[in-house]
Amino acid sequence: MARSRSSTEDIPQTGKIPRHIALIMDGNGRWARKRLLPRIAGHRRGSEAVRTLVESATRLGVEYVTLFAFSSENWRRPADEVSMLMQLFISNLENEISRLHRANIRVRIIGDLTRLGPRLATLIAEAHALTCNNSRLTLTVAVNYGGRWDILQAMNALLRTHPDKAGGDVTEADLTPFLSMGDTPEPDLFIRTGGEQRISNFLLWQLAYTELYFTETLWPDFDAESLNEAIRSYQQRERRFGRTSEQCCAPDS
Ligand code: FPP
Repeated sequence: MARSRSSTEDIPQTGKIPRHIALIMDGNGRWARKRLLPRIAGHRRGSEAVRTLVESATRLGVEYVTLFAFSSENWRRPADEVSMLMQLFISNLENEISRLHRANIRVRIIGDLTRLGPRLATLIAEAHALTCNNSRLTLTVAVNYGGRWDILQAMNALLRTHPDKAGGDVTEADLTPFLSMGDTPEPDLFIRTGGEQRISNFLLWQLAYTELYFTETLWPDFDAESLNEAIRSYQQRERRFGRTSEQCCAPDS
């Protein structure tokens, strides 16, 4: 697997349009409560917002979109909400995968997939197989994912593969290929909807130099214009990666 360039070891190329956007889609429950609807109605509308997001991002030329759909801590939710969310992932995969494939989108699910049921596991394997050679945009969905889990599973896999590293001296270059997103450029822009301002154990390793954007907009209301607004904010940031402002503005920087 090709290793992505590290923002701490190199200075990545950046452009006006973020190459990789990572999102925490928060606020589905509150969107539903405001309308006196059950929480699952908010998650359903959230799925529609995912479709709009993917269409808008594709049109803008974004290459990678990564969504936090279910965290390792979301199992703590009431059992009926967890079960309905799993059902929603199943129906989304069943109903959307052909359209995504026709749009030349590669779909990838990351996370600890061992705890998901057999139907979801089968659909995930089929989605990977069907779309793995698509090249317009990579849509990664994190399910039963946690940033700490990812770093630990990568370190354990590294030590299993290279037992000689157990004494120490593990480098970024050694570890990165074992991370769930080891072949993907680090996110340029992180968006969290719903008003909370935290990372919630999402891509802890990969967000090292990502620009963070928080909005009060609830996820089901996040539309094409909301994405444009987030990108406009991104375009005003100076991405220094540890350098001074003068260095960043120099013509050959
Ligand atoms: C957080 O809102 C949202 C989730 C835990 C689930 C996100 C799932 C979807 C948007 C469904 C579709 C996903 C895909 C990838 C097709 P919340 O429930 O915490 O909202 P609240 O903070 O208002 O209670």
